[in-house]
Amino acid sequence: METFECISTRRSIRRYLDIPVEWDKIGTILEAGRLAPSSGNIQDWNFIVVQDEDKRKAIAEASLRQHWMSKAPVYIVVCSDLKKSERVYGVRGNRLYSIQNSAAAIENMLLTAHSVGLGACWIGAFDENVVSRVLNIPDYARPQAIITIGYSDEKPKTPQRFPLTTVAFLEKYGNRIKDMAAVMHDYSVVTERNLKKGKAIFEKTGNLLTEKGKELAKKIKEKLGK
Ligand SMILES: Cc1cc2nc3c(=O)[nH]c(=O)nc-3n(C[C@H](O)[C@H](O)[C@H](O)COP(=O)(O)O)c2cc1C
Repeated sequence: METFECISTRRSIRRYLDIPVEWDKIGTILEAGRLAPSSGNIQDWNFIVVQDEDKRKAIAEASLRQHWMSKAPVYIVVCSDLKKSERVYGVRGNRLYSIQNSAAAIENMLLTAHSVGLGACWIGAFDENVVSRVLNIPDYARPQAIITIGYSDEKPKTPQRFPLTTVAFLEKYGNRIKDMAAVMHDYSVVTERNLKKGKAIFEKTGNLLTEKGKELAKKIKEKLGK
């Protein structure tokens, strides 16, 4: 599966079929976590694979009673070794990098699960003390997230995202990008809309165009086969 397709079709899966997951797929998911970027490449993570039913139930209970979780045959609990991040980066390592590093590994694993045909969900709402007790996680390590994994028994609708025009800024905070293609001078993505717009501009302005405009006009002309 192509990367962007994988990103855009991944969904949080909260209903699972009662069938086991092949170990090699879990191995591939773990490998994707291992390959994630981390601050200074410290790789301050550990991934606990949980298959035991009693443990899965106890963890679901400790996750604000999200009982649906225990239907997933496998969890991966992502932990940060705070000793490591703090030793190298002090407070920033402990409070920020540990979370960011884990998040990078988690997203890699979610995408890989999706790419091998599995459903997964990132769980952040849980009692860290209870989860640590159930899984023997030492004091210096922090469970950052639980990933539920299994074959999906649902096809969730795509949840809405804010449009790019409201989340992306150009050069300074608050400066919204109204037309990404125009800003990037990416004339290769001349869409139908831009094509029409470009053609109109070209016809109206002719020689008055700037160098960049001329370049665009040339590309549009080529595209239109003129
Ligand atoms: C930090 C974090 C914590 C989350 N915690 C939970 C959770 O405890 N339970 C849950 O069902 N989903 C949880 N999610 C999943 C989000 O609800 C989900 O990603 C979001 O609604 C967007 O849906 P999508 O993943 O299908 O795109 C969490 C996601 C993140 C990033």
